[in-house]
Amino acid sequence: MKIAVCVSGGGTNLQAIIDKIESGEIHNTEIAVVISNNKNAYALERAAKAGIEGVCISPKDYASRDEFNKAFLEKLDSYNVDLVVLAGFLVVIPPEMIRKYRNKIINIHPSLIPSFCGTGYYGLKVHEGVLERGVKVTGATCHFVDEGTDTGPIILQKAVEVLEGDTPEILQRRVMEQAEWIIMPKAIDLIASGKVSVVDGIAHISEN
Ligand code: GAR
Repeated sequence: MKIAVCVSGGGTNLQAIIDKIESGEIHNTEIAVVISNNKNAYALERAAKAGIEGVCISPKDYASRDEFNKAFLEKLDSYNVDLVVLAGFLVVIPPEMIRKYRNKIINIHPSLIPSFCGTGYYGLKVHEGVLERGVKVTGATCHFVDEGTDTGPIILQKAVEVLEGDTPEILQRRVMEQAEWIIMPKAIDLIASGKVSVVDGIAHISEN
């Protein structure tokens, strides 16, 4: 299976995917391209170090959103990938891309959906919301992308404890270590092995 990984920042989830392809924990998968909307994203350096092609395509370089959406879709199409992985990608996915890649785009979100998700909940803001509400369990969710924000079929989730004294940064790191870097690679492996299907908006995992 060929995948594209879309990034905007540090790229620790990208790194987890690279490492687990290398170690053999993700089977039958090759990263064809890393796409960033931010030319300074450290994720692009991680791609370069791993010998993976990196490209930058940013809405800022286009006169309109429509033009960017068109260019983004053309760029993605040119790599002929089987799966698009959003690994901390902060650009809204064009509706046309969602239609064309139905159940072929996955995202990692740093909370247990449907808590602390939707518009405005991304990155540290998610963990700030968790601490403000005082919940004792949070986690991460890997899901397919549909037209809504964080509303697509859920593939895997993993819970993580919130501890006394947590700051958003400390909690973010724990959620990454104990959940994101585990379930995102696992979801890719399950999809590459043909074990994930979506029926009536619900993702199912077969263990054959
Ligand atoms: C991750 O925590 C990811 O879950 C989050 O951004 C971070 C990217 O980190 N994504 C979202 O909030 C999407 N709504 P990374 O660049 O180190 O992988």
